[in-house]
Formats: sequence, C-alpha cells, structure tokens
Amino acid sequence: VSGPIVGIVGAGQLARMTAQAAIPLDVRLRLLAADPADSAAQVCPDVTVGTPAEALVDFAATCDVVTFDHELVDPVALATALGDGRVLRPSPAALRFAQDKDYQRAAFAAAGLPVPAHAMVVDAEAAAQFAVGVGWPIVLKSPRGGYDGRGVAVVERSEDLDAVWARMGDAPLLVEERVPIVAEFAVLVVRRPSGHSAVYPVVQTVQSDGICTEMLVPAGVPPDVVREAEEVGRTVADIVEAVGVLAVELFWDGDRILVNEVATRPHNSGHWTIEGAVTSQFANHLRGVLDWPLGDTARTAAAVATVNLLGPPDGSDPRARRADALAVPGAAVHLYGKAARAGRKLGHVTAVGDDPLETLARARRCVQLLEGGSFDD
Ligand SMILES: Nc1ncnc2c1ncn2[C@@H]1O[C@H](COP(=O)(O)OP(=O)(O)O)[C@@H](O)[C@H]1O
Ligand SMILES: [Mg+2]
Repeated sequence: VSGPIVGIVGAGQLARMTAQAAIPLDVRLRLLAADPADSAAQVCPDVTVGTPAEALVDFAATCDVVTFDHELVDPVALATALGDGRVLRPSPAALRFAQDKDYQRAAFAAAGLPVPAHAMVVDAEAAAQFAVGVGWPIVLKSPRGGYDGRGVAVVERSEDLDAVWARMGDAPLLVEERVPIVAEFAVLVVRRPSGHSAVYPVVQTVQSDGICTEMLVPAGVPPDVVREAEEVGRTVADIVEAVGVLAVELFWDGDRILVNEVATRPHNSGHWTIEGAVTSQFANHLRGVLDWPLGDTARTAAAVATVNLLGPPDGSDPRARRADALAVPGAAVHLYGKAARAGRKLGHVTAVGDDPLETLARARRCVQLLEGGSFDD
C-alpha cells in the first residue's frame, strides 16, 4: 500500500520542513514549485514547475490532497480545481482569510472578536481623516500580497503621509490605529476536517521592521493572558474552518488581546515545535490535511527559543560559517538552501533548556556566528 500523495502549492522553506516531517510517516509529497531551485524543490524528487494560475488544475488532478506553502494562489485556479472535485485543504474559503486583510478584519469584527480600529481608504486624504479619529501614528497596509512587513508602513505624523502613500502605490489601502503593543504572540491551532483540533502553547514573537526575528515559549505574559489567547485562537480556527495548521497572530497592549492576522498553513512562529514540541507543526499539518489523528502539541522542555537567521547586510552567505555555528552546543541549525540576500530569511536556530534567558542566549549566539557578527559574552 503506497500513497497518499500530498501536493503542496509552493516550495519554500515551509514545504521543505514539511518534506522532512513526511519521511517518518512515509507520505509522498509532490510540489508545485515556481522555480527548480526553490528551497523545497532541492530536497523533494517529485516537482512540477509552474505557476498556480497555469498549472494548479492539472497538478491537483495528480494528488490525493492539495495543501499550500503560501496563500498567494490564483482564486480562479482554486475555484476550478474545487469544481473538478479536487481535495483542497484548507479550502479556498479558508485561504481567503489569509489572502485579504480587509476581509479578515471585517469577518473577525463581525464575529465579535477584538481587532485594531481600521478602515479601507482610497487616498491619503481619507487616511488623514481616519487619523483624526484614532490619533497619530497610523499604520498603512496593502490588503493583499504582503509578508514579512513588506506592505506595512507606520506613518508617524501627518506631514509624512503623502510620501508614504506615494511609496505604497495607489490601490485602496487598509489604514489602522497603531496599537501600543506590549507583546505579540501567536497561537497555532491544528484542525481536522471534522473540526477536531489541538492548540500549541502560545508563543511570544518579536518583530523588528515588521519581520519576525525571535520566538519564545512559554510566552512572557501572565497566565490569564495566555489562556485568553488560546481561547481566541480556537475561536478563530472555527470561524476560518481551518484544516491543517492555522497561525493566529495576536497583539497585546497590556489590557486587550487583538487579532492581527492569520496564516492558513505552518508558520514561522511555529518553527520551535520541531525540537520543542512532541509533534512538530509540519507533522501535524500533514495529519490534519490527511484527516489523521493529531499529534500531541505539548512542549518538551521548560524553555524553547527560536531565532531567525536573516541574510547579513554585507550579502555574505552564512553557509560559509556553518562549522563555527555548529560548535555552539545545544543549538539546532536549520538552513533553507536559499541564496543569501540582505534581510532575507535564510534559516533559523532553536535551543531548548531549563532557563528562558540562557536558552535564548544560546540560540542567539549560534545565529550571530552564522551572520558573521562578533559575539562578546
Ligand atoms: N495596527 C498595528 N499597530 C502596531 N503594529 C502593527 C500594526 N499592524 C502591524 N504591526 C506590526 O507590523 C508587523 C507586520 O504586520 P502584519 O500585518 O502582520 O503584516 P505581514 O503580513 O507582513 O506579517 C506586525 O507583526 C506588528 O509588529
Ligand atoms: Mg504578520
């Protein structure tokens, strides 16, 4: 008995780590990659090269289940594949939450969940009008296509608005209050088509310039905040009708928990689960989309820290420094096989331990060595 064949649309690092999780389950993966050099295409023998718009319908016909490494998938191709009876998990309806920030803000607000004050605006004047209500600074966002903080801009003062608006293009934009964030966290929920779900421990995330750089478990916030975050996560997963992993990004302003956005797939904030949880987010994503029993989401150590490896400013390749970094004990190095470019996510390092600060320091030291920076203790 062989199979099933799980097709993944996209071949980035998430698909690459899913391939790693597929091995012990003996699940066959087939990738729809944009480029044969993509991160996951390097490690998977079964790759179709093409865009979802051109190739998804034929690709889906060769798979038992199709899932996704990113949300930017042509809606017409999704609808056609669905009409042909293909099994898409999550569904196009669930993917829409992650594709359209305006849609998800409206849907979560309508369900009674707290979200940042927001509006869709067509010009800078309307954005300025919105700021009169919420106060400066404000945040401008492209409703579609953004990631890692691309498509997000904080506007500090009204004098800056025209320049930022011009830079972001002339499509309608989402404008939001700038939430006074005390902590950001993410709740990962894995869900089966039946609705049966499991929640991972809440992870605290640290972003700089809109890009996630560090993740800490347990989150450094009070237990009642953690419980509320888990509750919000479960509620969002049911609203979205997620299948597989759903990541819910949350803001905490010291008082309220606000839903920022969702990703309907494994997520950067869940990379700690590879070493730090009984079942990784990638293994559980496969179980969820295959409608198999979900694995235990409990953490396996008192403290888990993951630090992202971004391309160093000088453009140098961290792989040249691999051996130095591996000398750090108790630091798990994950490299994605991507060409080095300043600021690009090239890998991550996870450490587990007894003490949160010591564990984070160990992961940071390893990343610093990969980045080629000097490290003074
Ligand atoms: N309304 C806001 N108030 C304060 N910070 C924000 C707001 N929206 C976004 N941010 C910051 O920018 C980061 C990226 O924004 P997000 O909407 O999650 O975009 P992306 O799709 O690029 O992840 C967030 O993690 C947060 O740090
Ligand atoms: Mg985000």
